[in-house]
Amino acid sequence: MASAPFISSSEPTKVDASNISSIKAFPIPSSYHSLAEPDDIVDVTEELAASIPVIDFSLLTSDDLKIHTKAVHELAKACSEWGFFMLTNHGVPESLMQELMKKTHEFYNLPEEEKEEFGDDGDPLSPIRHGTSFHPPAESFNYWRDYLKLLTSPQFSFPHKPPGYREVAFEYNKKINGVARKLLQGISESLGLESDSIIDSSDSDSGLHIMGVNFYPPCPQPHLALGLPPHSDFGFLTFLIQNGIGGLQVKHEDKWLNVNPLPNCLVVNIGDQLEAVSNGRYGSVLHRAILNNKDTRISLVVVNGPARDKEIGPAPELLEKEKPLFKSIKYCDYLLVQQKSQLSDGRTLDQIRYSSQ
Ligand code: OGA
Ligand code: NI
Repeated sequence: MASAPFISSSEPTKVDASNISSIKAFPIPSSYHSLAEPDDIVDVTEELAASIPVIDFSLLTSDDLKIHTKAVHELAKACSEWGFFMLTNHGVPESLMQELMKKTHEFYNLPEEEKEEFGDDGDPLSPIRHGTSFHPPAESFNYWRDYLKLLTSPQFSFPHKPPGYREVAFEYNKKINGVARKLLQGISESLGLESDSIIDSSDSDSGLHIMGVNFYPPCPQPHLALGLPPHSDFGFLTFLIQNGIGGLQVKHEDKWLNVNPLPNCLVVNIGDQLEAVSNGRYGSVLHRAILNNKDTRISLVVVNGPARDKEIGPAPELLEKEKPLFKSIKYCDYLLVQQKSQLSDGRTLDQIRYSSQ
């Protein structure tokens, strides 16, 4: 639990948020008031949330062709109707996930000076970046989050403290990469492509994978601010786990839904690169993180992706019968477009979309 020394939330603030390295240390300034309508947070459909798809990984990886084929079919449905699902029986040990959470708490409890060496230089390809908010140079509001962003593949980069954190994270990423590989095969099949088509064409075995560690302390005025603004993720797939505290919301049929993950599942969503490869069949979902005023929330995301210099666009097999919706672009260039784009520009994918004639 964070021991954030907040002062009364109703006091006017004189804090200049632009110079602050951690959101733990100050009350909520108006630059955080990103929710114009407090009702934004309340307009949530709980009935729909209950129907978020569940994909059983053990069925997808079954040797029994009938079981596997049925699971691929369910995966296709989850990807096209939701772009978002909970993955059960994935084989990533619960103890490993718990240990990773524990070490993350320890990292955030290090004194600020100890974290300074990891400061974000604004380059999306820097191996280790620690900071606060969303994309600090491009945003007009601040967001109530501290983050660590790590390049975990092709080279594994991770802070060397607290002791053991790096090793646990390495193990975790290895496991997630194994799961991601099988899912990408299932997704290729579900699109009518060869099983290894996406993996081979993107060289994702040497892909650029980024891990994000999100730390959301309690916010004294959670109805005014957000942990993360609505956004889509840039990679193929995002894998999320959290410390038992909710806050993730997904936009589905124009409504925000709370995601209350099943115990020990991996929450998976489609990212921009898969929307491009699937030529729009599988949408990269908008999601955001809301706040609460009681508990510190931690979420860990792994975003897997193509190799940095691979040009990614709609799969050629799909273009035999349809027009491309997106231009092909190198993954590293896409990341730069994303990093530079103002949030108000809408989705980064729109910048590589062909305008409809
Ligand atoms: C992200 C993200 C959501 C969450 O890091 O890209 O969407 O619930 N996180 O923390
Ligand atoms: Ni995200």
